[in-house]
Amino acid sequence: MTETPAPVADDAHDVIEVIHAKRDGGELSDSQIDWVIRAYTDGRVADEQMAALNMAILLRGMGRREIARWTAAMIATGERMSFGSLSRPTADKHSTGGVGDKITLPLAPLVAACGVAVPQLSGRGLGHTGGTLDKLESIPGWQASLSNEAMFAQLEDVGAVICAAGAGLAPADKKLYALRDVTGTVESIPLIASSIMSKKIAEGTGALVLDVKVGTGAFMKSLADAQELARTMVDLGTDAGVRTVALLTDMSTPLGRTAGNALEVAESVEVLAGGGPADVVELTVALAREMLAGAGVTDVDPAEVLASGRAMDVWRAMIAAQGGDPSAALPLARETHVVTAPTSGVLTRLDALAVGLAAWRLGAGRERKEDPVQYGAGVVWHARPGDVVTAGQPLFTLHTDTPERFERALAALSGGYDIAPAGSAYEPTALILDRIS
Ligand code: URA
Repeated sequence: MTETPAPVADDAHDVIEVIHAKRDGGELSDSQIDWVIRAYTDGRVADEQMAALNMAILLRGMGRREIARWTAAMIATGERMSFGSLSRPTADKHSTGGVGDKITLPLAPLVAACGVAVPQLSGRGLGHTGGTLDKLESIPGWQASLSNEAMFAQLEDVGAVICAAGAGLAPADKKLYALRDVTGTVESIPLIASSIMSKKIAEGTGALVLDVKVGTGAFMKSLADAQELARTMVDLGTDAGVRTVALLTDMSTPLGRTAGNALEVAESVEVLAGGGPADVVELTVALAREMLAGAGVTDVDPAEVLASGRAMDVWRAMIAAQGGDPSAALPLARETHVVTAPTSGVLTRLDALAVGLAAWRLGAGRERKEDPVQYGAGVVWHARPGDVVTAGQPLFTLHTDTPERFERALAALSGGYDIAPAGSAYEPTALILDRIS
């Protein structure tokens, strides 16, 4: 188990000494780490000083002990939840974020229908990857905020909760992540791993499955970087007593057929009804198997439970418990624009980043965290890599309430796909690239 940091005196260190130590390639001591995280959270270390330290960490890296201590120090700034009193085991999953990644929506009710409770504390989207809460908020009446008591009650009654993480969980990370976002220091494996794992460990889940995305639409563009991030997070979880595994999954192609809030809810409901795109079903079932195994449940087949309709029952109960109407019509964008195939042949590439940017520019995502999103906005793609297409057939339908956005969305999509002459060979890439435990 990771040790909980003891309080460090306010004057035990000064921030310049800590910045210099990392800038010069040294290792930070436990006491330096505990002090700087606490002092930054309390406002005694200024944003520009923490930004300098983050940049030094990004350039110099951190060792395993330092990352574990940095994570523990962030957890110690807030509350730690515990689900030990629930009548069933708990498991959660975290995705590092991708385009069309709606997997949490069918996955949480599926795992609950298999007998394992799922406490999913989620966030809103920033940039080209969507946020789970934004998707669910497109359902009329659905509320993201729950008290801890309501969350426990829903976990006991329904088995699954997807809600906003309260301000009390790893508050240091909230401040640090907002700072990293505006200072070019997001892309550091120690900082990403500690940020994600501080929240997941503080959340108190018994088992955790990480979906680490690899490819153009992901943080991690190469398999080697994704493996390093996954290994770092699995070690952090395991050292903290959380049974943790990671699947590395492809994000060079977007998942499913839709990117955009209400569009992705509709696609998730299709999966729960026994249909939906094959890749979304494959990943949902694979992650469910890992979550169940982590929680010690090995005698239930999630594919069978999905086909039985029991996961759909849990979905409806989960949405209704948070004020949503699972039967209500979902918001539709006011305007659509169809992009047709310029030539006939085989679609050999559909770029996740291009599709994600287009959906974002149509209004599905936000530029600043206070911006509203358009629930009906997004992109539907009518062909996936490997499909034969005919000149003039619809390739994409763009959805938005504000048609002046079409031009920039079209610019994002141009160059985002390739059509090879009919009969050309196409080598499909595997969806699940690696597993790290
Ligand atoms: N998600 C997080 O929560 N933190 C990061 O640093 C990156 C992605």
